[in-house]
Amino acid sequence: MKRHPVLSSIVLLGFAVGLFFWTRPAPSQASAAAPATTPAVPVLTETHYGTCKASSDGIGKTYHGREISHVMGHPGIGWLERTEREKEEAPSKAIAALKLAPNAVIADLGAGSGYYTFRLAPLVPQGRVVAIDIQPEMLAYMKEELRARGLKNVEPHLGSVTELKLPDASLDAVLMVDAYHEFDHPAEMLISIKAALKKGGRIYLVEFRAEDPKVPIKLLHKMSEAQARKEFTAAGFRFLENRPDLPWQHLMVFEKP
Ligand SMILES: C[S@@+](CC[C@H](N)C(=O)[O-])C[C@H]1O[C@@H](n2cnc3c(N)ncnc32)[C@H](O)[C@@H]1O
Repeated sequence: MKRHPVLSSIVLLGFAVGLFFWTRPAPSQASAAAPATTPAVPVLTETHYGTCKASSDGIGKTYHGREISHVMGHPGIGWLERTEREKEEAPSKAIAALKLAPNAVIADLGAGSGYYTFRLAPLVPQGRVVAIDIQPEMLAYMKEELRARGLKNVEPHLGSVTELKLPDASLDAVLMVDAYHEFDHPAEMLISIKAALKKGGRIYLVEFRAEDPKVPIKLLHKMSEAQARKEFTAAGFRFLENRPDLPWQHLMVFEKP
């Protein structure tokens, strides 16, 4: 029997379409086969970054309207370790206000020479201080001092400008002293801090008070409470309190919900 040519074409086309859909995996199968990867640097949809004319102490990049300052280089170790620091900034009061459990694991983020790290370590004898910085010279100085002081529960750790490079949920607390305002990728760092903290973990943010003109520190190296609260709450942290213990600095406490 002779087939009608148009009918034959329709049958052939139907066969081809059926074959196409039959051999394609269902969408769920396709995604299940794809490897699960977490990018090291998160892709940000809303960064709150901007640019401005760089001031003498700044990098010309803004975050929530605040110009980010230059990083203090390792030649500043002498200033960080100065003997007048206790009188001027009362770090012993700041450390006492943290009320750390003896087995706490705390990161000193932007640890510099380790001034705070050395004083935190004896308070967590069953825990650890992870002393993070991006300058290998700071970590080298700190390692020498740790040996000289015989401190065993400190882990000097090289971070990057975008991440802590620590496992998720590995920290009870993060302390940042005069460091956060220098982070040139604060949005990425806040995501990384959040991942590294346990649920209910605390951030202790120490920054020179921008509201007080009598505090003798350059403007970009200071921060107001309002600005810090804006940045940290936008990143998903809960503001708990600003402790009045220090002569020149805020000691703000945030929590990972
Ligand atoms: C002004 S120093 C303060 C050091 C120390 N917290 C203190 O109070 O003695 C700031 C430190 O933050 C470090 N820093 C800047 N950006 C950083 C980042 N993204 N991650 C870790 N450390 C950073 C700098 O290298 C510098 O050592």
